[in-house]
Amino acid sequence: MPYETVVGRTRDDLEKFRTNVAGYLGKHIVGTGEDAHLTTKVLLDLLKPHVMLICGKRGSGKSYSAAVVIEEFLSLPEETRQKMAFVVFDPVGIYWSMKFPNDTQTKLLTEWEMESKGFENVKVYVPEKQLTEYEEAEIPVDGTISIALSELTAEDLILAFGLERTSELAVTLEKNFNSLVESGNKFGVDDLVDSIASDVKARKETKDALTSLLTVLSQWGVIKKEGVKITDLIKPGQVIVFDFSRLKSQEIRTLITGLMTREILYQRILSRKEEELSKITGGNAKTTFPITWLVFEEAHGFVPNDRDVSSSADIKKVAKEGREPGVGLITITQQPNKIHPDVLSQSDIVISFRLTSKDDLEALHRVYQTYMPEELEKLINKLPRHLIGSAIILDDALEKVFSVNIRPRISWHSGGTAQIS
Ligand SMILES: Nc1ncnc2c1ncn2[C@@H]1O[C@H](COP(=O)(O)OP(=O)(O)O)[C@@H](O)[C@H]1O
Ligand SMILES: [Mg+2]
Repeated sequence: MPYETVVGRTRDDLEKFRTNVAGYLGKHIVGTGEDAHLTTKVLLDLLKPHVMLICGKRGSGKSYSAAVVIEEFLSLPEETRQKMAFVVFDPVGIYWSMKFPNDTQTKLLTEWEMESKGFENVKVYVPEKQLTEYEEAEIPVDGTISIALSELTAEDLILAFGLERTSELAVTLEKNFNSLVESGNKFGVDDLVDSIASDVKARKETKDALTSLLTVLSQWGVIKKEGVKITDLIKPGQVIVFDFSRLKSQEIRTLITGLMTREILYQRILSRKEEELSKITGGNAKTTFPITWLVFEEAHGFVPNDRDVSSSADIKKVAKEGREPGVGLITITQQPNKIHPDVLSQSDIVISFRLTSKDDLEALHRVYQTYMPEELEKLINKLPRHLIGSAIILDDALEKVFSVNIRPRISWHSGGTAQIS
């Protein structure tokens, strides 16, 4: 029988911390097919932020298991929990339901000797313009998101508009944007439109095209002169859900996501400096911003492998450099081969449910080269079909692969397949 495992925990940390500060993910699966049964617990290391990939075909349990990880964070002892935060970028609109207990899988929870529970430390933010839609759908909302145009960069807008870097449109946009930045004042879309309109060097066609792009941008109601501050939104011990499922512009979603990701990494770098400084001077460790894990649903839309979008560079940066300052990453996707390889190659933990294509198996192999794609395929195919939520977990720290059945959720899962009842 396998021992209790802490996925993502190095052997040194395992000796020191044993199974403390770890989340309960599920149980080891032993045997195959109908004979498969569950044995000891599989835990997840929460001492450090990790770069995690959750993949598998539609309806296999990806969102469900991401929520299990979040529930475990929310269930940590108060003192530990207060050092961390989770931020969920949710274009699907399913994480708000963590506020409520899972009353639909009562029998399963009893089998696992668990009790349903909702979490009030889950806070939901939505774009202001769609607020009434959420209210009408009876989705509890804690606040609205808006971002200040002056916090973005010209590059962000160029990517959001899909402009060629060296095109006349991009160059005119960049020049006017940067001159507003240099003025040192906050500015909104109107100010940028005015600046472009009075640009004597730009052609009328260019001005008109930019004005129309910017007008559409401002109509979504998210990008303004004043925006919310990330330090006001993210509180230690909490899960912040940015639900933009009802905001239909993927470009605006990537703009928000990129900016938030960049700000969070920046705040953690600042905080880390303070923490180091207080260690050197012998004072109490002073944390100004919690260690934060970022969760991306439909991650291929935010850091795709075939083009750059406004959030690409920031997410790649977190994947590569986030561990040191304390920013973790969970990317969730049906198609790992559609995620940028810079993110895949940095993943130290993979939870993979069944996959549909050879390309996706190849992508997994790129993350974890110890096993050949054929071997990974074999392991995935051996997962018992009758146990919903069965996955393989690839663990870089332990250099092992485990077959695991993810535990049932204690909070309500709103992401199940739509069904006519
Ligand atoms: N570990 C699990 N235990 C019990 N039921 C699960 C588990 N994982 C998934 N399910 C069931 O499967 C459904 C689909 O899971 P979900 O995570 O929404 O799929 P997707 O991979 O598309 O994100 C859920 O609504 C839930 O009923
Ligand atoms: Mg899902």
